[in-house]
Amino acid sequence: ADTLGSAAAEKGRYFGAAVAANRLGEAQYAATLNTEFNSVTPENEMKWDALEPSRGSFGFGNADRIVDHARSRGKSVRGHTLVWHSQLPGWVSGLGATDLRSAMNNHITQVMTHYRGAIHSWDVVNEAFQDGSSGARRSSPFQDKLGNGFIEEAFRTARAADPNAKLCYNDYNTDGVNAKSNAVYNLVRDFKSRGVPIDCVGFQSHFNSASPVPSDYRANLQRFADLGVDVQITELDIEGSGTTQATHYGNVVTACLAVSRCTGITVWGIPDKYSWRSSGTPLLFDDNYTKKPAYHAVLSALGGS
Ligand code: G3I
Repeated sequence: ADTLGSAAAEKGRYFGAAVAANRLGEAQYAATLNTEFNSVTPENEMKWDALEPSRGSFGFGNADRIVDHARSRGKSVRGHTLVWHSQLPGWVSGLGATDLRSAMNNHITQVMTHYRGAIHSWDVVNEAFQDGSSGARRSSPFQDKLGNGFIEEAFRTARAADPNAKLCYNDYNTDGVNAKSNAVYNLVRDFKSRGVPIDCVGFQSHFNSASPVPSDYRANLQRFADLGVDVQITELDIEGSGTTQATHYGNVVTACLAVSRCTGITVWGIPDKYSWRSSGTPLLFDDNYTKKPAYHAVLSALGGS
């Protein structure tokens, strides 16, 4: 296999990229996406502020453009994300508990119903835990007004809205074994023991020198898989360049392939110039869409050439 997507497919995995609707008209961007990737995540277009900017008024245009582009070319789509404290419109934060609960459930239901059958996996709840050693929940309108039960409620609503979509919890700085990943682990274990629907855990995997690929990355993915959920690498990018960056990328792919329930990898952008990071070169393609050493390391780790 000589593309990321086809090599991953031979290993029973997908290899995806975060995509921006307003770049799809750029020939090189679309060509690279179409050739190399077999899964797509809208980078911003399925966030709450994009889909429901005012209460009950949904606009699916930009998100639909990405979904149509992907599905007409046989690519699967990850939905990102239904319940998150960021990119949340002001009207949501202003609601009292009763209205917030119904707004959350309505948002999940409307969005998942619109995309029923078209989305492989949904990030139902994103980034609900704090960084650091406390393992505590992060303050957010949902946490502060609805309490710990909001995550369970969101997943139950999501299951009812699209019973065939895989329902994921997604977070960052949970890639190795640490207090934050332990907190997510305990949540998933509790959900599995009580029959609360959850199918997958997303590990964002934004790496840099302050937060490198952890040495226990594979072991951490495996312990979640052992709870009976799929694991996915959902927003991969790695600061750096050259052979050092390439080695780190290769190690991430190798870790995923070593875990049978690691079902796929998504990189958080295509060329370096469109990364969410304000500087640096964290992706697989340079600004001219030339394949970087990191690209070749990923392809080789996937068994392609
Ligand atoms: O669309 C507006 C545009 O109208 C406006 O003129 C412009 C001016 O700043 O802003 C545009 O919105 C920006 C948006 O990206 C779309 O480009 C926002 O300012 C900017 O903050 C937003 O950044 C996104 C970020 O999430 C916001 O939290 C990044 O593109 C996106 O890559 C990033 O992705 C997150 C994941 O969703 C969750 N995990 C972390 C990851 C990286 O931060």
